[in-house]
Amino acid sequence: MADLNQDTVTDAVIAQMADTPDPRMREVMAGLVRHMHAFAREVKLTPTEWLGAIDFLTRTGQACTPYRQEFILLSDALGLSRLVNLMDDTANRVGEATETSLLGPFYRESSPTFGYGESIAVHAEGPEMVLFGRVVDEGGNGVPDAIVEVWQTDADGAYDLQANDPSVMDMRGQYRTDAGGNYAIRTLVPLGYSIPMDGPVGAMVRTQQRHGFRPAHIHMLIGAEGYRELVTALYLGDDPNIDSDTVFGVSESLVVRPVVGAEGSPDPSVPSVRYDFTIARRAAHDTSARVGADPSKLAAE
Ligand code: BEZ
Ligand code: FE
Repeated sequence: MADLNQDTVTDAVIAQMADTPDPRMREVMAGLVRHMHAFAREVKLTPTEWLGAIDFLTRTGQACTPYRQEFILLSDALGLSRLVNLMDDTANRVGEATETSLLGPFYRESSPTFGYGESIAVHAEGPEMVLFGRVVDEGGNGVPDAIVEVWQTDADGAYDLQANDPSVMDMRGQYRTDAGGNYAIRTLVPLGYSIPMDGPVGAMVRTQQRHGFRPAHIHMLIGAEGYRELVTALYLGDDPNIDSDTVFGVSESLVVRPVVGAEGSPDPSVPSVRYDFTIARRAAHDTSARVGADPSKLAAE
């Protein structure tokens, strides 16, 4: 019988998992054990602290519902979602494309479809803006029939999922690019907002004396046959928290400033942003998915 001590326990665990048939699962779990044990040694983790962490993770799971995904929020607030997405882009992108950003916990499948220039604001009201441009390939050619999904907060900084009746969809929709790859979206000027602070992740962020805000943004998910799905967002440059996003989603190339009188806007009288999205071809080996999902797809029954 092996004599376990704090130096040998890590190898003992990895050895016991060595017959895991799936090689990738074996690699990932061995790495997880190695790094978790190294972490416990580095910070000299005490039993009380570890029990506190288990309590925190338990409450994180319990906070998940078909309308709320607290674990994705945790992954986002720790920068892990951004890291995993950035690594995946580097490994799987073929050619240049618009930078990615977070899907976040407020994406929903099956949002309503809209025509060119129609507004996603069905119930919400507030100052309007327009987003227009093209979806292009690496060579700058328009991609027809690309699906552009968009979702954002209303003018009060709340998503439909956070409303009194979260089953009603608003401030989200899908557009299809025309033959030249053009799209146009009418919407409300989004407001920066706090990530949900009433759960365990919010409590963690508060304890760390972080402000908890995301700068105002509009989410986009763009897909077309044969292309790698693009999950990104556009951020309003005048937001006071543009440089301190709580979930690390902002990149310089995704920062925009709406202007009145924008050339080519379907309604130049409304503050408009022209933004062309470049999507990359899908690599043959690309099996990537996004960090994130419609919360109703992840909640246990
Ligand atoms: C969002 O942009 O919707 C979001 C992303 C990560 C955490 C919270 C919100
Ligand atoms: Fe968001």
